[in-house]
Amino acid sequence: MQERLGLVDGFDVLFCLVFGCIENGSQLACLAALGAFPPRNRRLFLRLLQESVKADQEQTGDISMIKFLKEDREVIVADGANLRQKALENGVDIYTFMGKMMNCGGYGQCGTCIVEIEEGMENLSPRTDVENRKLKKKPDTYRLACQTLVNGPVSVNTKP
Ligand code: FES
Repeated sequence: MQERLGLVDGFDVLFCLVFGCIENGSQLACLAALGAFPPRNRRLFLRLLQESVKADQEQTGDISMIKFLKEDREVIVADGANLRQKALENGVDIYTFMGKMMNCGGYGQCGTCIVEIEEGMENLSPRTDVENRKLKKKPDTYRLACQTLVNGPVSVNTKP
């Protein structure tokens, strides 16, 4: 792993410590170890970690790419990721003003998380009953982000 990432010496011990914690599923230990990084190195560490995870997942073929067209953002996610959650985690705003004020938090109740799928509809989970009700009068390319799981590359228009 270190050779693949080209890590420098002073960095290796902490990197492996945190990475080991992650692999062992110990989130608390991971956060504690991450806290030991000098602040200026944390961003570098997180980038290296993301590249490492991406490289591992590419080998097993279980990642997907979400392109948010209006925002010009590409987000790499694990297969089965929730579209709303990944948008919010990556700073992509999917809500209009009303949606921001009144959204249901991803429970499929408000219908404010509508997105349009430009490409890759076949890579998404099927429309749920909730979506069929809420999107009855909308085009087939519309989805509720909170009800949509991503299983392959997709291109998304937010706030269509
Ligand atoms: S967030 Fe309310 S329906 Fe998706």
